[in-house]
Amino acid sequence: MIYARVAGIGSYLPEKVVTNKDLEKMMDTSDEWIRERTGIKRRHVAADDETTSSLGLEAARRAMDAAGVEPDDIDLIVVGTATPDKVFPSVACMIQRRLGVRGAPAFDVHAACSGFVYGLDLANRYIQTGGAKTALVIGAETLSRITNWEDRGTAVLFGDGAGCVVLQASDEPGILATHIHADGEYEELLHVPAGVSLGYEETRAGRAFIEMNGNAVFKRAVATFDNIARETIRDLDGEIGDIDWFVPHQANMRIIKAAAKRLGMPMERVIATVDEHANTSGASIPLALDQAVRDGRIKRGDTLMFAAFGAGFTWGSTMLKY
Ligand code: UT7
Repeated sequence: MIYARVAGIGSYLPEKVVTNKDLEKMMDTSDEWIRERTGIKRRHVAADDETTSSLGLEAARRAMDAAGVEPDDIDLIVVGTATPDKVFPSVACMIQRRLGVRGAPAFDVHAACSGFVYGLDLANRYIQTGGAKTALVIGAETLSRITNWEDRGTAVLFGDGAGCVVLQASDEPGILATHIHADGEYEELLHVPAGVSLGYEETRAGRAFIEMNGNAVFKRAVATFDNIARETIRDLDGEIGDIDWFVPHQANMRIIKAAAKRLGMPMERVIATVDEHANTSGASIPLALDQAVRDGRIKRGDTLMFAAFGAGFTWGSTMLKY
């Protein structure tokens, strides 16, 4: 049996930090409200000369260093992003060029906050069927570019960043199961009502921003994390106790706590970094993973569960031996 195993992880956060106190000066909000309702303390925001591809490139370089792989080893690049630099080419192709990788397939997956787990699902299938031996799966976002800084209901929630894992074919267990889903029925609950085919009117008018029905998304996210985690565990004939670390999408600390409670997973075994980088969409899981690996909580041999939920709606999970 061929497994896709995590050979290395890397992440990158822009240098500029915007705290809740900074936001207090920009809009009618308070540090207390933001902490209480979301658990967020600060978020990183890309500089004018930084883009999704530049953040993703740095994360990829760090992950490749950690894995000890060279550009010539890479035979697949998948980027989960909802905020590409350009309409085309893809962020994956831009990163490929800058890494000096030639010829390997490179493409973006647009699944909003679930982009990274969608990417893992795809790369896992490539590796298991012999289509690739060493893949980069990147989650990278510059959500600050689609944030309405005058809307306190959304502006306090998002941040920029990138994370990357190097997956390699191995005889030793790596990814054990992946599941991805979507239901387009809920399009208007979380969307940016502007874009290419809709025309650039909204974009030109400076209104290409995230719009969200926060309450409805909140409830759906909690229920979905529970369902997707149970689906994955059932598939493996396992139980919740088999998971050493739950690494959920980082949108809101209350969502993470509520999901952990429903799953019967103690918070000591949950990786939560939303306080430090807010919701970075497709980048949030690899950012959280990288931090927990670097601070020594997650160790080789641990069993991990990733769970994501986002616009679409899209959702998915990955269970793996690290
Ligand atoms: O990545 C997946 C997508 N995103 C999510 O998963 C996010 C899901 N939703 C959420 O995280 C939460 O619903 C929010 C954090 C967005 C909102 O929390 P809430 O507890 O659902 O608050 P609410 O929307 O019911 O608003 C409560 C009050 C409102 O005032 P009134 O109408 O009760 O007077 C809002 O106007 O809080 C007000 N409010 C704020 N006050 C201060 C909303 N945003 C702010 C703010 N500062 N930034």
